[in-house]
Amino acid sequence: MYESMREARIFPSAISHNVAALHRAAGSEEAMVVVKADGYGHGIVTAARAGLDGGASWCGTADISEALTLRDAGITVPILAWLVGPDSPVDAAIAADVDVGVSSVEQLNQVVSAASVRKPATIQLKIDSGMGRGGATEAEWGHLFAEAASASNSGHVRVRGIFTHFAQTSADSDKTQATAFETAIDGVRRAGLEPEVIHSSSSTPSIRTPEFAHSLVRLGVSAYGVAMVPEHRSVGLQPAMRLAGQVIQVKRLPAGHGVGYDHTYTTTTDTVTAVIPLGYADGIPRLASSVGPVSIGAQRFTIAGRVSMDQVSVDVGDAHVQRGDWAVFFGDPGNGEPSVSEWAELASTIPYEILTGVGSRVRRVTQ
Ligand SMILES: Cc1ncc(COP(=O)(O)O)c(C=O)c1O
Repeated sequence: MYESMREARIFPSAISHNVAALHRAAGSEEAMVVVKADGYGHGIVTAARAGLDGGASWCGTADISEALTLRDAGITVPILAWLVGPDSPVDAAIAADVDVGVSSVEQLNQVVSAASVRKPATIQLKIDSGMGRGGATEAEWGHLFAEAASASNSGHVRVRGIFTHFAQTSADSDKTQATAFETAIDGVRRAGLEPEVIHSSSSTPSIRTPEFAHSLVRLGVSAYGVAMVPEHRSVGLQPAMRLAGQVIQVKRLPAGHGVGYDHTYTTTTDTVTAVIPLGYADGIPRLASSVGPVSIGAQRFTIAGRVSMDQVSVDVGDAHVQRGDWAVFFGDPGNGEPSVSEWAELASTIPYEILTGVGSRVRRVTQ
């Protein structure tokens, strides 16, 4: 049961537009819309359908259960899920034709034991080309490729792809990884495997270094309208979420009155504050206390004092603000609203955390 006073408005047409424009700019054969973490907070099925409408031919998830949610919603395109835990539902992935990302021989064995010759698993080998997070390290490639070739020969798996992920420290560091990835691709071919899909680039490398992309790009945050590098600006990205709360109280306070926990903000004149029911439980970072921007009507204000669990106050001075007005925390900077990136910077974080942090109490309204 949602209260209507908190709202994240979702614009699927923006996701479709962004995916089409980013895919065009990347110049890759195919695009994957990455919809993990509930479609970066936009709703996993909404985001997937919108990305597919924009020309993506794949969906990407972290968890297998996320991929199964897409299948349950009737999405039939290829899906890759790249995180596999010891108890992940690999058997359900195989039954639902979900590609499983395999990062180690241990994971390969787990998948093989859930597969059969009658129903082989489709896998993609995840290569650690230097990021140092998930994926098989160079020392493990030979063993992994040999075991994958053997499982392929026995008919238990089909090795559809090989992929890596860039650390994105710089274009140069990505180049070093791209070179290591080429060595891995040569290795997998020498083991007798011929992967159909080869991919490495998420939002930033897909546009900063399109020459590293191979056959498809994996579009996450940029598909939701966030520009991560200057190259994204020329793409014309459209924000896919507007987060807003309704003013629930307007009150007059005298000069010198503290506002909120610890009284970290004090009114300087006789003024009016507006109380808005979005707080850190809804994903508003507490680090944005006294700096987070909010727009009401055509005017911009700043959060006054601490972000509480469920609410914030804004000093609106003489502005004409009434109970029931909508306060936009982030939306379309083209309309003067604060952007996700602005919020991230002010709260010392990244846009990903702002988008995925929008809480479950916030009603998603799909436009
Ligand atoms: C393997 C992989 N590919 C693609 C993405 C999408 O990244 P981005 O949102 O930067 O496009 C992620 C997200 O972290 C990822 O882990």
